[in-house]
Amino acid sequence: MLRQEVEDGQASLANPQFRADVLAGLDRRPRAIPARWFYDRRGSELFEKITDLPEYYPTRSETAVLGAIGGELRERIGPGRAVVEFGSGSSTKTPLVLEAIEPSAYVPIDISGDFLRESSKALSTRFPNLLVLPFEADFTRPLALPRTIAAAPKLGFFPGSTIGNLIPHAAVDLLRAMRSSLGEGAMLLIGMDRIKSADVLVPAYDDAQGVTAAFNLNLLERINRELDGDIPVDAFRHRAIWNDDRARIEMHLEATRDVDFTVDGRKFSICAGETIHTENSHKYGPRDARILLRAGGWTPIQMWMDADEKFAVYLAEAQAERPAP
Ligand code: AVI
Repeated sequence: MLRQEVEDGQASLANPQFRADVLAGLDRRPRAIPARWFYDRRGSELFEKITDLPEYYPTRSETAVLGAIGGELRERIGPGRAVVEFGSGSSTKTPLVLEAIEPSAYVPIDISGDFLRESSKALSTRFPNLLVLPFEADFTRPLALPRTIAAAPKLGFFPGSTIGNLIPHAAVDLLRAMRSSLGEGAMLLIGMDRIKSADVLVPAYDDAQGVTAAFNLNLLERINRELDGDIPVDAFRHRAIWNDDRARIEMHLEATRDVDFTVDGRKFSICAGETIHTENSHKYGPRDARILLRAGGWTPIQMWMDADEKFAVYLAEAQAERPAP
């Protein structure tokens, strides 16, 4: 996921970018706050719970795909690559890839040093002969990877359909940044959730136990905690909507009554029925995914799906700098 650092949530420690995004997001119409700010400590815990929910299939489906294609990955990718995982988080799916391809090194990249250290330790225990080089960085921009892996061909790994949380032009920018970080001869293994019936998609983002609702509403609690806010959280409800035109699930926080509140000394009024847009989760059909990859500088080689065809994993290779004509 696109994580921000996990903070303890004191107003004095507020991230200036969080403050700027929240104030600008509450000012604009329609109101919108970037989804990256979901992931404080509580938000990260709630996200882990989401991945276990009966309605939230993506984690299970992607894990099933990766578990089934080890032999093909070995054949297609071969040994000796340095695996670079973008936004590694808790790295739960990584062993399936590392076991399959005999890499020369593993470089987990995450903006949260906490997650990085914990997951790297666990992986080093599980793969004692593997060189693990944790890298604390914002992977949305091109990066200078550790010199130790300069000569090794790279495999980028970007699971979870996190690419779907970006609007298409930002997704293309990110794929291009990965292409530039990984260099010539690189390959990319990327998970993308597929377009399917709203009857399956909406419950995945609006579960019966209310965990996703709590995840969404935690953003308001985080604003109150870290930006000295007094938003009446009980005056908002979680909404998950399938936007068919844009092929995405949108999460919103809808005011159930007129509310006035303050954040960081600034006053805001929101009318009943108005929403704050908090997340997009784009879904991609096979052609959409292939176009997205090519636009981002990657040539798709192969696609695999789970038995229910809910989720797809793509393998792509770095495209020549000037595709013909
Ligand atoms: C992290 N990301 C891929 C999740 C998704 O499915 O878009 C975030 C999420 N939001 C609500 N549920 C899960």
